[in-house]
Amino acid sequence: MSGDTQKQAGQLETKIVAAIDATTDATALEAVRVGSLGKKGSVSALLKTLGGMSAEERQLNGPLFNALRDKIAEAIAAKKTELDAAALNARLAEETMDMTLPVDSDPQFEGRIHPVSQVMEELSAIFADMGFDVAEGPDIESQFYNFSALNIPEAHPARQMHDTFYLKAEEDGDALVLRTHTSPVQVRTMQQGQAEKSGPPFRFIAPGRTYRCDSDQTHTPMFHQIEGLVVDESTHMGHLKHTLETFLAAFFELDDIAIRFRPSYFPFTEPSMEIDMQCHRDGERLVVGSGDEWMEIGGSGMVNPHVLRHAGIDADKYQGFAFGMGIDRLAMLKYGAPDLRAFFEADLRWLKHYGFLPIDVPGLAAGLSNKTLANINKAT
Ligand code: PHE
Repeated sequence: MSGDTQKQAGQLETKIVAAIDATTDATALEAVRVGSLGKKGSVSALLKTLGGMSAEERQLNGPLFNALRDKIAEAIAAKKTELDAAALNARLAEETMDMTLPVDSDPQFEGRIHPVSQVMEELSAIFADMGFDVAEGPDIESQFYNFSALNIPEAHPARQMHDTFYLKAEEDGDALVLRTHTSPVQVRTMQQGQAEKSGPPFRFIAPGRTYRCDSDQTHTPMFHQIEGLVVDESTHMGHLKHTLETFLAAFFELDDIAIRFRPSYFPFTEPSMEIDMQCHRDGERLVVGSGDEWMEIGGSGMVNPHVLRHAGIDADKYQGFAFGMGIDRLAMLKYGAPDLRAFFEADLRWLKHYGFLPIDVPGLAAGLSNKTLANINKAT
């Protein structure tokens, strides 16, 4: 009888130990535990049979069954430790981290400053260093400031020359226009200076947006100009030429740069000259500096006395020069962007390539165009 019971216990042990060995995860092991040691488990059932046994049998089988229960509990605990360790190792293997990978990019290196904005900052830095203020005027301008005050009378062909965008006329007045050049800022700023008794002398630049009804590879309906004006008692054309040469050399970061004046006509200057800059061709590209080609970069001249009078300035006492240049053209030449239209297409890939890092603020002290982005691109 008791031999049978022992055999039974032995078989049960073999069976459960084999089941424990066969488990490969915690869930399966828990099922084996419940099936053996749980309330309705096989080992628990065996222990319950002790109640129906005689005192002798119980004395014999009790330790045997208890030993079986302890053995199974131990085997389950050991297997659990083993499975836990295996699971941890598997997770560690799966969640490895490559410490040699670069860190996620820093947000300050994500955004870009548009080349036109960057060049405007460069222009302001250079002219500020030469003692120029920075003036501004409205994009939506009256015909008076855009034309009449600049000595372009009504019905003058120059009004047609500019391909002006006219806005709808107000009931009590002339139609406003989108300014066709930055020259209206000349008169506005001089008038304001007169009112505030802060000039003459005047020495300022006015960078900003300008508009003409024109569009092809080298013209966009909106573009940017920089106006320059100096008015005092003795400023002459030599000062104009020197100012432009100094500015261009600083802007293109060259030792010196040759320019030439070509006679031209603007109603608001007399005499008037087109400004050409010396350059040469390198394949498709125009390179600024030396060479046997000349590139037009803007207009200039001595301020017409009529313009001074419109600003309330004594034209017998004061004289000066003015110039206007295309900022987009300057940006294209300096930074090698081939197509003007791409400047205004808001293509982020283009901006990533041609744009500047916000931390690269142009200044003359550290070299005009900081090269952080170029250095980053070189390093990666
Ligand atoms: N306003 C002129 C233009 O847009 C340029 C210019 C400015 C010419 C100042 C002379 C003096 O073409």
